[in-house]
Amino acid sequence: MRKRRVLTGYRPTGRLTLGHWFGNLMNMREMQDQYEAYYFVADWHALTSDWQDTSAVRRFTEEMVLDWLAAGIDPDKATIYRQSDVPEVAELTLYLSMVTPMSWLERVPSYKEQREQISDKDLGNVGFFLYPLMQAADITIVKADLVPVGEDQAPHLELTREIVRRFNGTYGELLVEPQAVIPKEGARVPGTDGRKMSKSYGNAIYLSESAEETAAKVRGMVTDPARKLKTDPGNPDICPLHQIHRLVGDPSVVAEFDRCCRVAECGCVAHKARMAEDLNAYLSEFRARRAELAQKRDLAWDVLFAGAERIRPAIDELMGAVREAMHVDAPSSR
Ligand code: TRP
Repeated sequence: MRKRRVLTGYRPTGRLTLGHWFGNLMNMREMQDQYEAYYFVADWHALTSDWQDTSAVRRFTEEMVLDWLAAGIDPDKATIYRQSDVPEVAELTLYLSMVTPMSWLERVPSYKEQREQISDKDLGNVGFFLYPLMQAADITIVKADLVPVGEDQAPHLELTREIVRRFNGTYGELLVEPQAVIPKEGARVPGTDGRKMSKSYGNAIYLSESAEETAAKVRGMVTDPARKLKTDPGNPDICPLHQIHRLVGDPSVVAEFDRCCRVAECGCVAHKARMAEDLNAYLSEFRARRAELAQKRDLAWDVLFAGAERIRPAIDELMGAVREAMHVDAPSSR
């Protein structure tokens, strides 16, 4: 039996964090063995929200791909490509827009939410409104069977399925209706201030930063706010320092810090020093590979090029069939 094809895309937003490590990267590594995996850099999606300043998209693309490679995403197992290297995604987005009522896009929950919540960006543009439709094109152009979706992306997949049914009902059974896979719940990684780790909160630990940078961030971390003095007992269960330590430390060491914190036998300063050491040790192999890759940045572009080349015949075949069904000619070469 043919392996099922899983697809996931990420906006290039720069270097990946410890949150991505436990959230996405572990899943991506597992899926590349289980499925025929397609991982793409959603660079056009980055434009939809960041159209006012697009200057970093290329650099962020390169950094994200180098992080993927250093984290063990294997281009021999997974097909890694860049969205804009498949320009037919734009063509298919246009075709899909013909069968999509405006109301379907208007009711996508993330659209309303993000327009209301994100105030530092102007999201009143048509590109942002269209991005769930572009996502439907991303998915269907490679005939993905499975798409891992978190809670926020689930409505986008439902939308894709509805669009596929309408398209196929109108023009014939050309597109594959994808299914959602609920990704394995990754560990929740708090940022240095205790909120969810996120680049935009300024509380992120980057996988590719130096051991010194990490140590300095850990020294500045928030701990149990009720523990003002070393003689106060602490609560590890609400302490971001402990939460990260549980993910990266030796269990017996972590258990001992848990115990001595609760009875005020040890202080946060010593714990931070040890946690930083353990975290740096945990990341050292990744960092060595990442530093090596930083010397051969071309590799990121080679991988993206090879990925786009690998899917090219299937794209041509599908788009040929779609144009034929819609009575549109391929770009004329006359
Ligand atoms: N919309 C996703 C995000 O904002 C990225 C994305 C674009 C995607 N196209 C996709 C994810 C197709 C899965 C499948 O993160």
